[in-house]
Amino acid sequence: MTLLQVMAADDAAAVRVRTSDDEVIAAELAGHGITFDRWPVVENASAVPSDELLAHYAERIAELNASGRYRHIDVARIHPDDTNPEWPAIAEGARQKFLSEHRHAEDEVRYFASGRGCFYLHLGEEVLAVVCEGGDLLSVPAGTLHWFDMGTRPDFIALRFFEEEDGWVGDFTGDPISQGFPTLDELLTAP
Ligand SMILES: [Fe+2]
Repeated sequence: MTLLQVMAADDAAAVRVRTSDDEVIAAELAGHGITFDRWPVVENASAVPSDELLAHYAERIAELNASGRYRHIDVARIHPDDTNPEWPAIAEGARQKFLSEHRHAEDEVRYFASGRGCFYLHLGEEVLAVVCEGGDLLSVPAGTLHWFDMGTRPDFIALRFFEEEDGWVGDFTGDPISQGFPTLDELLTAP
C-alpha cells in the first residue's frame, strides 16, 4: 500500500495528512514540485532478471529519459535470505546507509518494481513520509533534504536513474532529525 504521512518537522506526532489515495498523494507531492507516478507492475518481479525488467520498461524509461539526462540506469534489488546467516547484518548495513538526513547533487529518481521503501522528505516545516511500493515512481529533487528507510526486513527492486555514475552519493547534514520519526516498520503498523 502506497502511503503518505505528513508530519510537522519539529513534532512527528503532529500528523496533518495520512492517506493511501494515489491521487491525493500525487497532488500533495506535486505541490512541492515532486514527481510521483504509477507504472503497471510486472507479476512476480523478484523472479525476473534485471536486464529483462529494464527491457520490459524500455518505453517508459525512454519517455522518462527523453532529454537523455540519465546516463546511468540500473536495478537495485534486495530480498530477505533466511538461509544466509549473514543476511541480517547485510540488511542492517544496507538500511543504515541512507537512514540519516542527506541530500544529493542530482534528482533521486526511483521506480519500485516490487517491494517497498520509505522516503522522508524534509521540506521546510514539514516532513513528508512517502511509503513507495511496487508500481511507484518517485523523483526527489536535487538538494532536497531527505532520508530513506528500507525497514528491518528489506525487500524491494528499484530501477535507479542517475546523471552521474556517483549520483547516489549522499551529502549528510549531521542532523539527527530522522531518529525522531516513525520508521517504515512503524508507519506500516500504525492504525
Ligand atoms: Fe538519498
